[in-house]
Order: sequence, then structure tokens, then C-alpha cells
Amino acid sequence: MTLLDTTGVRAAGSEGEALLDVRGLQRHFPLRKGLLRRQYAAVQAVDGVDLQVRAGETVGLVGESGCGKSTTGRLLVRLDEPTGGSNRFDGRDITHLSQRQLRPLRRDVQIVFQDPYSSLNPRHSVGQIVGAPLRLQKVQTPHGTRRAVQDLLALVGLNPEHYNRYPHEFSGGQRQRIGIARALALRPKLLICDEPVSALDVSIQAQVVNLLEDLQSEFNLSYLFIAHDLSVVRHISDRVAVMYLGRIAEQAPRVELYDSPMHPYTKALLSAVPVPDPDEREARERIRLTGDVPSPVSPPSACRFHTRCWKARDLCSTVTPPLLEVAPGHQIACHFPEPATPEATAWAHASSDLDEQVRGDAAAAADLERRLAEGATPVTIASGTDAGRGARRGSSTSG
Ligand SMILES: Nc1ncnc2c1ncn2[C@@H]1O[C@H](COP(=O)(O)OP(=O)(O)OP(=O)(O)O)[C@@H](O)[C@H]1O
Ligand code: SF4
Ligand SMILES: [Mg+2]
Repeated sequence: MTLLDTTGVRAAGSEGEALLDVRGLQRHFPLRKGLLRRQYAAVQAVDGVDLQVRAGETVGLVGESGCGKSTTGRLLVRLDEPTGGSNRFDGRDITHLSQRQLRPLRRDVQIVFQDPYSSLNPRHSVGQIVGAPLRLQKVQTPHGTRRAVQDLLALVGLNPEHYNRYPHEFSGGQRQRIGIARALALRPKLLICDEPVSALDVSIQAQVVNLLEDLQSEFNLSYLFIAHDLSVVRHISDRVAVMYLGRIAEQAPRVELYDSPMHPYTKALLSAVPVPDPDEREARERIRLTGDVPSPVSPPSACRFHTRCWKARDLCSTVTPPLLEVAPGHQIACHFPEPATPEATAWAHASSDLDEQVRGDAAAAADLERRLAEGATPVTIASGTDAGRGARRGSSTSG
């Protein structure tokens, strides 16, 4: 029996196309040296990210510092050019559009940055900052730009009379509201929020998060919410994607991800989240990751987490685990997932068989990697049938 048989997973796009649909997104930054600036290596900041965001949905993106979250966010708004993969927005392939062709898209996708201090030009008044997108896109508003900006300031809870003030006259939380007003000026469909509350005090964080939630219901906004803080992500997200060294390790609907993480890395991350209930705290297994995060210049082979994973076996360092769907909307990239469901248990057993078959046999490992990349699953391969090929790739946008 294949995983497909046991889980009844939907094929890609079965619920209609996602607003944002990213496949295999890649950004390698070349490292150069010498007079000729010859490339000698590359920072593999983002290396094959699959991510979907549906209309009106909030997807949280979490992971340790340097795992590629901001780079992913910048690629999605095309502030940076991908070196591989594809990016569809609202049914249109925007991966290789020129800056001129991208201009209309800039209205639909906006970004809110982490640092409300450096992201606002100190020499520009609030009116100039929030009105800039309207002027750049030559948007005609019924009552003029000034009135539109004042409406935006009121929308984010700022005093419209402060139109002529400068960023240094505002607190951190107020500055972040200015950044949000600027991002909303063109009425976007998708907001990339890159750590929008990390630089703020806890009480102010809650206000800004509440504001984002209110705005979402008012304008049916979609968010990609990038953050370190797993508690904030839990609060705001419908689905959560966990990144490790440039790749997605696991993504799932929020409750499933927090209640039954299946990827060892997610499990470790969540085990470090403070729990207020002393009984729960006592009962919980704390997983301490050993070793440093490896460099994205020379990441570990196959599963990039294998140098820190307590479950690692030979297979993990020789064959890349593909991102596969183990339950509707729940995708993981791990040969030995936590046995949270019968499907995950079957998967881990199949991987154990494969581990024995390819151990010490580089050619067999390469062949297995190829078959997995083509869409077969560990279960179908281990059971001797590749039936269901391609139907279980990590591509569902359900949630
Ligand atoms: N322009 C660049 N040139 C070279 N390397 C870069 C560049 N931008 C980012 N990187 C590297 O890419 C990797 C991912 O960086 P990124 O800023 O996306 O991480 P992050 O997950 O957002 O981290 P943090 O949580 O600290 O914000 C890091 O190793 C970083 O040093
Ligand atoms: S594939 Fe192996 S090393 Fe990677 S997370 Fe799973 S068990 Fe750990
Ligand atoms: Mg970042």
C-alpha cells in the first residue's frame, strides 16, 4: 500500500491555485576574490524552497538565524533575483520578469521590514514616506495623495495630523505602523512581513500583531510572516513552514505542526519554546541541539540537518530526503519522521529498509536519490512499486 493510498492526499492545485506558488526557489550568492573577481564558492542562502500562500492566509516562516528567511522574503518581492526555481503570483509566472514588467506587481506584493528605525528614511516626513508608493506608481486617489496618506495613518492607528512629522519623532511601535501604512498604500494582496515585531517591546508587539490581524480581515490580505518567535507565529499563522539551512524542513497547518511535529528539527525548535504551565513543562522532553549551524557555503551533504540530528543514519548523509506530504497539508523532508501518524511510521520503516540496501553503495544511493527526485516515495520504492509517482510531492497548498 502506498502512502497515497493510506492518506488520500490531494494532488497539487486541487483546491484552486495559490496566490503565491514558489517551487524550488534558489538564491546562491557568489563569493569572489582576486583581481579578476573570480568566483571561488557560493553562499547557498536559499536552496530549493517550495512554498505556497493562499488568498487571505497567513503562513509563518521560522528557523534559526541565517537559515535564509529574509532572503526568501526578498526573492518573493523580487528585491533580489533568484538563481533557480519558479515563482508564480496570482496565476502568473513572475520569476524572470524585468523590473519594468514587475511594476504592476509591486502594487500587489509589499514588504514590511524588521527594523522600524533603519527602514524609514530619517530625512523624509511621514507624509513623504507613506505617499511614496502612490507617487511612484502614479496612483490617482479621489481626494489627493495627502488625504490618502492621512487615511492610511488613521487606518494603522496613527494621528493623521502627524503627516509632517519625521521618523525620529515616533516610538518604535509607531514607526512600525508607518512601515505598515506604507506597505498598505497600494492595497496589496500579499504582505511579506520580515520579523515585523522582533525589534519591539512585548506589549507593543501584541498591538502590532493585532493591527495586522485587523487589517487582514478588512482587506483579505495574505501574509508571509517571517519570525524567530515561535509563540508569535503560533498566534498569527494558519500554516507554518520551518526552514533549515536554505530548505523547508517541514510545513503544516499550525495546530498540527505545534502539536505533532514530525521533523526532528521542528521537534527540537519547539522543545525550546517556554511553556507557562509547570506540569506541561515538567512532562516535556527538552531536545538540545549539539553543534553549530553549518555554513551555507559548504552545507552538509544530503539532509543538511544530519550533522546535528540525533536520529541520523547513513541514508541521511547520502540521499536527500524530498519534501513529501505525509498527511493532508503536512509536508516533511526527513527519512525518519517522528511516528505521529501511521503514514509517518510506514515511511520511517521503508527508509530503514532503504538505509540497509544502499549503505556503503554510492551508486545505489545515487539511484535512490534520482527516483525520489522523480516523485517516487520511500514507501513505494521499498515495497517494490513506484505506483503513485509524482502525486505526493510537497506541493499541496491545503491547510
Ligand atoms: N547579499 C548577500 N551576499 C552574501 N551572502 C548573503 C547575502 N545576503 C544574505 N547572505 C547570507 O545568506 C544566509 C541567509 O541570510 P538571511 O538574511 O536570509 O537569513 P535569516 O534567516 O533572515 O537570518 P536572521 O534570522 O538572522 O534574520 C546567511 O548566511 C547570510 O550571511
Ligand atoms: S533525514 Fe535523517 S538527519 Fe535529516 S532530519 Fe531526518 S532523521 Fe534527521
Ligand atoms: Mg532575517
